[in-house]
Amino acid sequence: MLVVDYGAQYAQLIARRVREARVYSEVVPHTLSAAEILGRRPAAVILSGGPSSVYAEGAPAVERDLFEAGVPVLGICYGFQAMAHALGGEVTRTGQREYGKTEVRSTTAPHGLLDGTDRVQTTWMSHGDAVTAAPEGFEVLAVSEAAPVACFADEERQLYGVQWHPEVKHSPQGQRVIENFLYGGAGLTPEWTTGSIVEEQVAAIRAQVGDAQAICGLSGGVDSAVAAALVQKAIGDQLTCVFVDHGLMREGEADQVERDFVAATGAKLHVADEKKRFLLALAGVTDPEEKRKIIGREFIRAFEEAERNILEEAQAEGASVEFLVQGTLYPDVVESGGGEGAANIKSHHNVGGLPEDLEFQLVEPLRALFKDEVRAVGAELGLPPEIVQRHPFPGPGLGIRIIGEVTERNLEVLRAADAIAREELTTSGLDAEVWQMPVVLLADVRSVGVQGDGRTYGHPIVLRPVSSEDAMTADWSRLPYDLLATISNRITNEVEEVNRVTLDVTSKPPGTIEWE
Ligand code: XMP
Repeated sequence: MLVVDYGAQYAQLIARRVREARVYSEVVPHTLSAAEILGRRPAAVILSGGPSSVYAEGAPAVERDLFEAGVPVLGICYGFQAMAHALGGEVTRTGQREYGKTEVRSTTAPHGLLDGTDRVQTTWMSHGDAVTAAPEGFEVLAVSEAAPVACFADEERQLYGVQWHPEVKHSPQGQRVIENFLYGGAGLTPEWTTGSIVEEQVAAIRAQVGDAQAICGLSGGVDSAVAAALVQKAIGDQLTCVFVDHGLMREGEADQVERDFVAATGAKLHVADEKKRFLLALAGVTDPEEKRKIIGREFIRAFEEAERNILEEAQAEGASVEFLVQGTLYPDVVESGGGEGAANIKSHHNVGGLPEDLEFQLVEPLRALFKDEVRAVGAELGLPPEIVQRHPFPGPGLGIRIIGEVTERNLEVLRAADAIAREELTTSGLDAEVWQMPVVLLADVRSVGVQGDGRTYGHPIVLRPVSSEDAMTADWSRLPYDLLATISNRITNEVEEVNRVTLDVTSKPPGTIEWE
């Protein structure tokens, strides 16, 4: 099913909710014509919300044709108003805005699109204009204080609309509304499961790669591990994984790749131990940007060297390596335009990424998936929870969590403190509440303390637990004081160089998540 994006960043969320209902969905830009949308033969279409008023100059219109092809359509917020407008209903600038939590009331016993929801339900609204008269043939199913038509349906033509945003969590019964549309209105069945994703991708990878060989760089992160595991399942030993160990990983993470990943997948792994190279290149460097550049540059060089070895080995055996596996996810595809003409919202910085001039064809088995789906696929493929549930971790690793010079000693201190903080967070059962928790060593700062009977002059550690949806914005996590106390006591007792633990209570913006 297709979600037409009217540009308010709700479209991805709608696509996720549809997939949570086990129906495959993709986002397409509103610049596609009705003919182009219908040409993709969707089983159903959802029109998303958007920032426009249907009367605003240049507001994206919806062609009537879209509603006359017999394809079920659900309009949400702007999509709802655009549908009303296109079909001869009345959209009025009432001057009465509704923003945030809003009660809507069913006009009859809830049925159809509202089946199984409360007669009066809480929803999340964000609109200035309102539909004041439904188009002919539509039944008005619900109203709110400022929306005389808050929900309508034409069962015969399978056209539906809601003024509120059923896709956001603040509309507690929203998922039910989306499912009523998918299963009831559009008559779809929930078939999109993790198992079906794996089967489909394995077949697609086999068809793409054939007898050739592929390589995949493992970063220790979820995406590259799941992409590699999928490709391994599809083509077995035709895949060689490469892990450049830059020595900037946290405690146990290199083992997770070298031991646990290999045990779970049986993948052929080439480890490049480059710890010394990175320490040497980073010696004496304290500037954050310079560190990132050095780590990025050395990573590419190290990867290229490893790759050359693999190519030579393959050549000696008469094989050719033609494919490179990458863990690109669906939000990256949508945000970087996706070849669909959607707006380029952000361009991706990925220090620790791969060179651009690689002469390989790309295999991107996660291109259609959201992060939570990638985790589910990873679990289905038998990867351990430590890998699939891992919090995000930056490519330059601990290199940008040491404020000051990256030395072997500083890395040891930070690794020890970080391991304690992570262990306690996991023990408290709060891993899922936190997006990530950078632990930062202020190697350039010293403060006076007293430990045992003596005066100390040690380094502070900063805990930076944050909650976030997408890392673009974040808030500091209100972790329980008892947990913070345990982490602090353990770090100051067990890590000799640290005599102070502090908590970062800054949101993003103005702070970034990482300190460098
Ligand atoms: P900031 O610090 O910009 O971080 O708020 C946002 C998210 O991105 C991660 N991050 C990186 N990830 N390479 C990466 O792969 C990088 O150079 C990099 N810098 C920051 C950070 O951990 C957070 O999740």
